[in-house]
Amino acid sequence: MKTLSICTIALIGLLILRTVAATAADQTDPAPAPLKDEFSKQENIYRSQGDAVPEGYTVDRTLALYSDALHPEFSRSLAAMGPQERWLDIGAGSGRAVLDYLAPDYEPPRPYGTPAVGGKAQVVAISIEDRRTPLWQSTAARLPDRQLKYLTGKRLRDYTLAELGRFRIITDVIGGFSYSADLSLFMQKALDFLDLNGSFYTVLQDVHSESVGNAPYYKDAPYLTEIRNADGSEVKVCSWLKSISCVEVSCEFKTGWKPPIETFHIRKICDEVKVPALIPVHFQAGTPPERRFLLAR
Ligand SMILES: C[S@@+](CC[C@H](N)C(=O)[O-])C[C@H]1O[C@@H](n2cnc3c(N)ncnc32)[C@H](O)[C@@H]1O
Repeated sequence: MKTLSICTIALIGLLILRTVAATAADQTDPAPAPLKDEFSKQENIYRSQGDAVPEGYTVDRTLALYSDALHPEFSRSLAAMGPQERWLDIGAGSGRAVLDYLAPDYEPPRPYGTPAVGGKAQVVAISIEDRRTPLWQSTAARLPDRQLKYLTGKRLRDYTLAELGRFRIITDVIGGFSYSADLSLFMQKALDFLDLNGSFYTVLQDVHSESVGNAPYYKDAPYLTEIRNADGSEVKVCSWLKSISCVEVSCEFKTGWKPPIETFHIRKICDEVKVPALIPVHFQAGTPPERRFLLAR
């Protein structure tokens, strides 16, 4: 009976995975009605403009908020980046954090005595929908092309290495890491775009932290992102990240945010990155969506 139920869960998961993968790549592909509904609600959130933007869909977090949300090492690594190095912001929204960094009067704080790096890094911001503002346009107009790019109309998974290249720092603040329906593919792609010894800084809201026994933030609701083994036991997101080969991971719980967040620093230490596959078994549209995954063994 137990074996049957594990097989059944895995089979359902695999069927959903194939549908999710097809649907995420091409919204016209057939999908079971409930999932299709959720994907189309999610697309409406991305496409929303003006008063129709849901209250929780924040697209203009500042660099100061990024620094607050991300691992403390983020600000230090950004300050150490010179003009030959590259920063990718996945799920950049309006790109406010990137614009703050490139503002002429902004100097990244460096520890006393650290030599100046002779200019700012090159930045690429990606977002499914185009949320560029007049400030973006005027900033782009005064900078050389290679210093600031905004790519839109595709998800991270749809870019090739030839299109994007590699980056010293990748950030994702409630972007694709929180929104993607296929988390393991998202991670594999993000790590492919990272330089050796480069760092990926990201966060999740309302997730079961590695170090703290936090309950789900909303009463009678699950955590926003959950991973389970086939026998139903929990796999914390931090543990799953630590099981990826060729990375060093540190996870920190932060209570100052509502809901609280767990912040992840993932450093790539060799090239043979292999991300343990996750099968999507639940997706409910939202800001961010509610997602559940099955760890494939
Ligand atoms: C809530 S906004 C966050 C914007 C910004 N990081 C901030 O904090 O203000 C979510 C962003 O993630 C983007 N996004 C969601 N899934 C993505 C994916 N798989 N690849 C790239 N961008 C994605 C959306 O298009 C949007 O730009």
